[in-house]
Amino acid sequence: MNGLFAFSKKYYLRYKLRLCIGFLLIIISNILTLIPIPYVGKSINAIKNLFMNLSTNATDSYNIKKKILIYTGIILMGPIIGGIIKYHMRKCIISTSRMIEFDIKNQIFTHYQKLSLSFYKKNSTGDLMNRLTEDVSFIRQYIGPGIMYFVNLIILFFMVIVQMLKIGKTLTFYVIAPIPILFILIYYISIFISKKSKKIQNYQSFTSSFIQETFSGIHIIKSFVAESIFQKKYKKIVQNYRKKNIELSKIDTLLSSVIIFFIGISYLMIIFFGGKKYYLGEIKEIGIIAEFFTYINVLVFPFIILGWVVSIVEKAKVSQVRIKEFLNEKPNIYNNNILTKTKIFGNIDFKNVSFFYDKKIFYEKKNYTINKISFSLKSGKTLVLTGETGSGKTTIGKLISRLYDPIHGEIIVDNVNLKNHNLFSFRKNIGYAPQESFLFSDSIYNNIALGCIGRVTHYKVHSAAKMAMIENDILNFKNGYDTIIGERGITLSGGQKQRICIARAIIRKPKIIIFDDSFSAIDQKTRKLMIYHIKKGLKNSTIIIITHDTSYIQDYDLFISLKNGKISIIEEKNIFS
Ligand SMILES: Nc1ncnc2c1ncn2[C@@H]1O[C@H](COP(=O)(O)OP(=O)(O)O)[C@@H](O)[C@H]1O
Ligand SMILES: [Mg+2]
Repeated sequence: MNGLFAFSKKYYLRYKLRLCIGFLLIIISNILTLIPIPYVGKSINAIKNLFMNLSTNATDSYNIKKKILIYTGIILMGPIIGGIIKYHMRKCIISTSRMIEFDIKNQIFTHYQKLSLSFYKKNSTGDLMNRLTEDVSFIRQYIGPGIMYFVNLIILFFMVIVQMLKIGKTLTFYVIAPIPILFILIYYISIFISKKSKKIQNYQSFTSSFIQETFSGIHIIKSFVAESIFQKKYKKIVQNYRKKNIELSKIDTLLSSVIIFFIGISYLMIIFFGGKKYYLGEIKEIGIIAEFFTYINVLVFPFIILGWVVSIVEKAKVSQVRIKEFLNEKPNIYNNNILTKTKIFGNIDFKNVSFFYDKKIFYEKKNYTINKISFSLKSGKTLVLTGETGSGKTTIGKLISRLYDPIHGEIIVDNVNLKNHNLFSFRKNIGYAPQESFLFSDSIYNNIALGCIGRVTHYKVHSAAKMAMIENDILNFKNGYDTIIGERGITLSGGQKQRICIARAIIRKPKIIIFDDSFSAIDQKTRKLMIYHIKKGLKNSTIIIITHDTSYIQDYDLFISLKNGKISIIEEKNIFS
């Protein structure tokens, strides 16, 4: 419980006042539950007196009946007022747990966004999502109802013991004697629950990833008529999931049964030892035995719910480890210069830059992905970067955007090592149209405006769309710029997507702009025109065009062809300087 408690401590402290009120309400509601119990015994004794001494006079009989009525009133009022207090107690603690859930979710989401691309390559989206949803949900259940029921049980248990001790010390001893054995059993069973929960939670992540991938690639599955293959795979995964969950349910049920069994033993203790004492005359009033029964009754629900609490604590323990695992991930790319906002002009110098993605692959292949690359590109110039697939073109684009840092060598931007620029102000000056067009399920307008920093004006969005030669297409849609694309809206052609991505990259007029195979799905004539417009519109920007087909680009200042991560051809044209 230590790690889990340490994890949740700061949240408890943040909401300490609300939680203290909640715990105070637990105490009050328990007192109200216990107040009527002695009156159960008293009523039984009074009823016994009423029937045993029928000969007593009318006034006595009247008094006894009056007493019974008052006792009944108290017995009824206790749970009613207690119920109202319990309602507020739940509201207070459970709403606090929802606030904590909100805080944790935000913390994780913010952290996820800080992490580098390499983290996202290593971990699946399904896993990321599960930790943000399922795992946080377990933590919330632990922090809210879990702790509430647990504290409630502890407080009630001690209050009940104190009350029972008042009316019969030895009988109390017999009644609570089985409880320590119960706690030992709960401890051992919880170890099994923890192990199973860990397996299930990891498997759940795996399942989510499978589902997410299936639906992302649904067009491939359909075109290859592979539905049945995926159906079979899914069935197998779900079968496994069911099997694991049934195993866990069995342990959960065993735990509940053990708890109920021990409560049963306590009842037996009252019947056996209480009956014996009453028979021997050590207990004078039969009402005392009824009181003992009522005290145990009060404990039945909190004890049964303890089974659920143990199970949720175990799940939350696993979740806490899973969440912390990602929260402890450090971004590979640091902002080494938060203090100054650098103005970027767009001069780029590669000095013997070498890079690999994965140490393991590097040692196996003994080859860098990018191998000792050097070139110099002045601000406002255009670089055409070409080469076979896999030669490292995209990697160079990512290095320039500082999505990765070089392993050896330096990338110098405006005479300063890229690592020493303020990361955010540098990235604000970079426009990137990726190789794989990605658009959000939002309006076309918002997708283009995403690239904008500062105030987005209609003029900016429209002129970016014009420059990317997509405006005519947009205006042909019924809803124009408000057309929703992606999952919730229409599907665009590859070329249309590419052009929206280009508009998004150029809207902020970045000082450095990278087009990574961004013209591949666009016809030759449009391509040429687009490049003409872009070069005219972004006169002062350094332009990097990555492509394997160079036939449509005539105006460039530097031409580099890559082969296996090395420069095979480098040609400088100074016609524009
Ligand atoms: N995230 C990654 N992790 C490991 N290897 C990668 C990763 N991205 C690309 N690679 C590998 O690096 C090499 C260069 O890739 P890339 O720069 O995308 O080539 P290009 O854009 O020229 O087709 C390829 O062999 C590719 O498999
Ligand atoms: Mg590429």
